[in-house]
Amino acid sequence: MKNSSDVKKRVLTGDRPTGGLHLGHYVGSLKTRVIMQDLHDCFVMIADVQALTDNFATPDKVQKNVFEVALDNLSVGLDPKKITYFIQSEIPEIAELTVFYSNLVTVSELQRNPTVKNEIQEKGNIFKDGVVNLGFLSYPVSQAADITFCKAELVPVGKDQQPMIEQTRRIIQKFHSLYGEIFPFPEGVFTNVPKLNGLDGRKMSKSLGNAIYLADSPEEIRKKIMTAKTDLQNSIVFDENSRPEISNLMMYYQAASGLSIKEIENKYNTISSYKIFKEELVESINTFLEPIRERRKYYLDNPDLVWGVLESGGIRAKEEAVKTLLEVRKSMKIYYKR
Ligand code: TRP
Repeated sequence: MKNSSDVKKRVLTGDRPTGGLHLGHYVGSLKTRVIMQDLHDCFVMIADVQALTDNFATPDKVQKNVFEVALDNLSVGLDPKKITYFIQSEIPEIAELTVFYSNLVTVSELQRNPTVKNEIQEKGNIFKDGVVNLGFLSYPVSQAADITFCKAELVPVGKDQQPMIEQTRRIIQKFHSLYGEIFPFPEGVFTNVPKLNGLDGRKMSKSLGNAIYLADSPEEIRKKIMTAKTDLQNSIVFDENSRPEISNLMMYYQAASGLSIKEIENKYNTISSYKIFKEELVESINTFLEPIRERRKYYLDNPDLVWGVLESGGIRAKEEAVKTLLEVRKSMKIYYKR
């Protein structure tokens, strides 16, 4: 018997190529992708066009990180035989859709988007006094194009990306009411793990230099963990409010080992040495990263394989895009028979 949950769904997700992916990305979305690749038809997009919306002045950085981010995804075991990898800029239909959709979104709707608002604040060095370029303000529109060009039904992302899914659904609704129903309504798939903080307690982020990267060497992991801040209480007890430092390290432990926080507390309830705990945390992270490092090395030794994956994925993505755009053009009456 087949029921709806047996049916393979189209999944799309993406990463901005602005730096290597870290442990926070792993627990927040890569882990979900690893599970989904066996259940669904997954597209993974390297979002170079979106990355340029706030990195327009540093295109070299974006270019370099396209390979890096593809490598990170491949290294965590996202199998190119199961996943369609592609580079956003190689599908110009996405840009075309963005133009069409921009009629269906108001400027104030974008200005109210909580994630965009936050990011504009956070990127104060680029968007001085909140003065933002059109491309960044409207990236939710281009993200709607990312999601719909291949008619994605599921979009695994971090919780901060929920407003983008909602925006996409509003665009589809408007499109349907004006031009006819052609898209499925995508759903966000959010992990329920809380966000990992960086080594300094702020949000783990490439730009803050406080991250544990999937590409870190065993020595780098050791150095980062052994010098991480703790408190003076010498007990391994989770309390995010009053003991943020040790709690954060326990979350790394959880991410790497798969043990629950309770199990970690039990394991260390007679240990009063942070040194021992940290040594074992280093061990645990390195064990977790070992297979990832092995795959990374394999692909680094064979970079043509990585480019090949992006190329063949791009061909498939293009086919989907062309099909969708034909439907969109017909629906929007910009299709001319000669
Ligand atoms: N905005 C996403 C992020 O910053 C990346 C992204 C771009 C994306 N296009 C997407 C995610 C489409 C999901 C679907 O993480």
